[in-house]
Amino acid sequence: MIAAVFSAVAQGEVKMSTWGHTADGTAVPIYTLTSGQLEVRVSAYGAHLVSVKAPDKAGKMADVVLGYDTIEGYQSDTKTYFGAVVGRYGNRIALGKFTIDGKTYQIPVNNGANALHGGPKGFDQYVWQAHEVPDGVEFTHVSPDGDMGFPGTLTAHVRYTLHGDTLRIDYSATTDKATVLNITNHAYFNLRGDDAADILGDKIEINADKFTPTDAGLIPTGELAPVAGTPVDFRKPEVIGARINADYEPLKLAGGYDHNFVLNGKMGTLHLAAIVTDPISGRKLTVETTEPGVQFYTGNFLDGTITGRHGVVYAKNWGFCLETQHFPDSPNHKNFPSTELKPGETMHSTTTFAFSVVK
Ligand code: GLA
Repeated sequence: MIAAVFSAVAQGEVKMSTWGHTADGTAVPIYTLTSGQLEVRVSAYGAHLVSVKAPDKAGKMADVVLGYDTIEGYQSDTKTYFGAVVGRYGNRIALGKFTIDGKTYQIPVNNGANALHGGPKGFDQYVWQAHEVPDGVEFTHVSPDGDMGFPGTLTAHVRYTLHGDTLRIDYSATTDKATVLNITNHAYFNLRGDDAADILGDKIEINADKFTPTDAGLIPTGELAPVAGTPVDFRKPEVIGARINADYEPLKLAGGYDHNFVLNGKMGTLHLAAIVTDPISGRKLTVETTEPGVQFYTGNFLDGTITGRHGVVYAKNWGFCLETQHFPDSPNHKNFPSTELKPGETMHSTTTFAFSVVK
């Protein structure tokens, strides 16, 4: 009886504290969400997912996302997007250019010739408004008309809630002019816990028969190519490192996995994106989404120059991302699901990350 009372109290607790200040002096709240199974920390700066503590097969809790201990860490790194909410447009837009209703817009480029994750000052670099909701917190950011070249005043909401073993992220947005958007979370997972090893020994299954091959600048060619018979076929669980160095053009262009997969499920309803297990810790992550795609990225650009949380040096392949999303460069591909949002419409998107163990 007493145990039941205690576990009821432990469910759905949300605590706010001040984490620190940005360089311009803005106070940044951080929220700690706890359920019986998980502890999650999310920050109003960049609406970052800062920490996720999950149990291993022995019940030992450890952090399973890469990141920094301080806001300064996040503020001084505008390249890796650890745990960030990326927007307005996650992933790349070719040459930073697109056309809506005959008018061409230019996003400042920040990744070779292309725009990445919304341009040089994306959603990851703002302090969002925060308010508590049942089991979590909702962050709101208003991006003014013309911000980073995008049309329309865009009001974006990102809601993190914790339900038992599942972290849920709900995104919604409205605009006052026709625009494009693709908002996602860029968490790097490391299921071993506390960033203890690279992720090459993990097994991943991705629920996709097709992917979107790219050119050398990682811009989709427009083709939806079958994964069958290639090293990007993850329809059955495969060890991440087993084929990562295969002699296969799409892997060579990206220096590993950095590909958008066309999910088999129905867009708009929650469907399986991917399942990853770490055989050593036993931790298992199941990702479901309402989005049509997922970018599986194996931290190919981590190069040992970053020291993250726990004083760990993040070398190549130290984390993997599963960025649930619309496809990269959709505004320039009529055959991809549309990323346009018009006044009067509301964009809704949901992704869930469930943590369990295999023994
Ligand atoms: C995305 C991209 C990668 C890389 C990272 C950020 O996942 O697909 O190519 O730019 O963001 O480092």
